[in-house]
Amino acid sequence: MPEKQRILTGDTPTGRLHLGHWVGSLENRVLMQDDYDCYFILANMHALTTRAENPAQIHQDTLDIAIDFLCAGIDPQKSCIFVQSDIPAISELTFIFSMLIPFPRLMRNPTIKDEIRDKGLGDSYPFGFLLYPVGQVADILAFRPALVPVGEDQIPHLEMTREVARRFNQLYCAVDPHADDAKQVDLGGLFPIIQPKLGRVKRLVGTGGPAENGQLLKMSKSLNNSILLTEDPDSVRRKIMAMYTDPKRLKATDPGNIDNNPLWIFHDTFNPDKTWVTEAKARYQAGGIGDVECKKCLVEVLTAFIAPLHQKRLELEKNRDYVKEVLRKGAEKANLVASETLRLTKEAIYQVF
Ligand code: TRP
Repeated sequence: MPEKQRILTGDTPTGRLHLGHWVGSLENRVLMQDDYDCYFILANMHALTTRAENPAQIHQDTLDIAIDFLCAGIDPQKSCIFVQSDIPAISELTFIFSMLIPFPRLMRNPTIKDEIRDKGLGDSYPFGFLLYPVGQVADILAFRPALVPVGEDQIPHLEMTREVARRFNQLYCAVDPHADDAKQVDLGGLFPIIQPKLGRVKRLVGTGGPAENGQLLKMSKSLNNSILLTEDPDSVRRKIMAMYTDPKRLKATDPGNIDNNPLWIFHDTFNPDKTWVTEAKARYQAGGIGDVECKKCLVEVLTAFIAPLHQKRLELEKNRDYVKEVLRKGAEKANLVASETLRLTKEAIYQVF
């Protein structure tokens, strides 16, 4: 049996996970558990880069995500779930990799620019904030994975990871700078050139209306337009029944617009009964079916998915010791791989010491 390839991905703990996280990446992770050796990192040190004054909240958010992972079907018997700050090799690798990224290159990273704008960080963000993408390169390369399943916003960080890996292999492992990405390890490089893997929906819309420019907003905790993966089914029902649809449609006999309409985006994304969706869309456009009926059907579809996850959350919240034990065992396993990578990294750079 050839060894399974590794994958590494994770989340910065900023609160509980929602349906956008599910279709963007989590669903992929659950599906890949049998075929890959999976590592899932809870990036609590990254949370500290913008919320250093609030460690108690970060602690709570970290446990919450661990619980969401378990509810969503990540199986700790198959996959390794761990907390970033439990892996000392990651910090040491961050220092080393920071030498291989030109500072202006970091400042051109579009995700960093977006975050500075969206989180209103102005020019008062800490030095450590700029270090976090380098830390993410270390999170990834510490595990020398083949694939990194992420949402679209993470692609700039993954591109930087690929650049660092190539540069390291060239500088310290004598790999030809023009060598094929896929051949770098065979040619003696320590780090594989990772591949991103995007989810089936790149950017799920929220349940609220569009922004001022008419564009639908993505689902996000801070925009108050999300449905949690483990939300109470009653609350799912209320949110769906109140959700934004086609503002021009006043009654069920008005022809409705299905484009840019979250009701239909949600049906397309989550309703397994494609025949019903196709027929109902045609009727909706012709004024033959009301919003309420289509929303009720969506409530059924979503609660069938979410209710068991909600139930599991109630159980795990009563059993935090179990969750902490999963994280402790996860850290033990993750440390074996990451410290081996650190040893090889130091051997390659410092040679004799
Ligand atoms: N930056 C990612 C996010 O905010 C979380 C993350 C941290 C991550 N380390 C990672 C993702 C390594 C993939 C690989 O969602």
